[in-house]
Amino acid sequence: LSQTYGSLSQTYLPVLRDASLYYLLRDQDYEGLAEQMQAEYPYERVGLDRLLAILIDLSQMRITPPARVLDIGCNTGLFSLGLAAKGYTVVGVDSNIAAEVQEFYPGKIIDTAMQLADTFKNLKLVESAISDFLAENHDTFDIGLLLSVVHQWSGGYAASRQGVKTSAQIEETLAMLVSRIYHVMYYEGPDEDSLPSLNALSLPRWFCDTTLVQQAVPIALSVAANGELRTLYRLMR
Ligand SMILES: C[S@@+](CC[C@H](N)C(=O)[O-])C[C@H]1O[C@@H](n2cnc3c(N)ncnc32)[C@H](O)[C@@H]1O
Repeated sequence: LSQTYGSLSQTYLPVLRDASLYYLLRDQDYEGLAEQMQAEYPYERVGLDRLLAILIDLSQMRITPPARVLDIGCNTGLFSLGLAAKGYTVVGVDSNIAAEVQEFYPGKIIDTAMQLADTFKNLKLVESAISDFLAENHDTFDIGLLLSVVHQWSGGYAASRQGVKTSAQIEETLAMLVSRIYHVMYYEGPDEDSLPSLNALSLPRWFCDTTLVQQAVPIALSVAANGELRTLYRLMR
């Protein structure tokens, strides 16, 4: 596996290939987790830090398992698998556009997550554009993860122009999300677009004014592949 997916560790996207890491997380063995991460996955700590920040925030907000999570743009599944390991009921959705644009993915992105998905009965992974998924499924969720996804829609994935959406399409998708996610959304985008204030978030103003998003609280900073800071926000009604 490490041969197949070795090149993925060159990206900032976390790929934890070993279910035992998720069990360490579930069992709150953070020392063991840190040791194993350092030995085997030093590059992926940034991703894990974001996951831990979300888990801590959810626990402080008393949004506890088995609350339902929709992970939009779940990629290779770090957040979906991590939250499922903690007992949340998770649906991860990814359109696979990153693999179509960036050559370092070995095949379908979601297949990487699928290899561990059977370990967790409370996890479902779907290959679909989020707009299609929302149109075809009427499920509702307590928690949404919208991490480093929305900014890809206006310029196309990784500035490739592939998957470009108009503002109207972006707003339609965000509106559908707002109607399906009841409690909290975690949002992350490039920092140049988003400052810690509702007005300056790189989201449509009306989105921030909906009942879902009346507060935007920065909960963590992370470093993207290009070395720039990204802020992780909790958006709530
Ligand atoms: C930059 S990655 C971020 C992955 C993960 N959320 C994180 O923060 O580490 C964006 C992911 O979103 C997926 N994606 C982009 N547009 C999407 C869409 N409209 N529907 C579903 N997935 C999408 C891409 O395939 C890619 O895997």
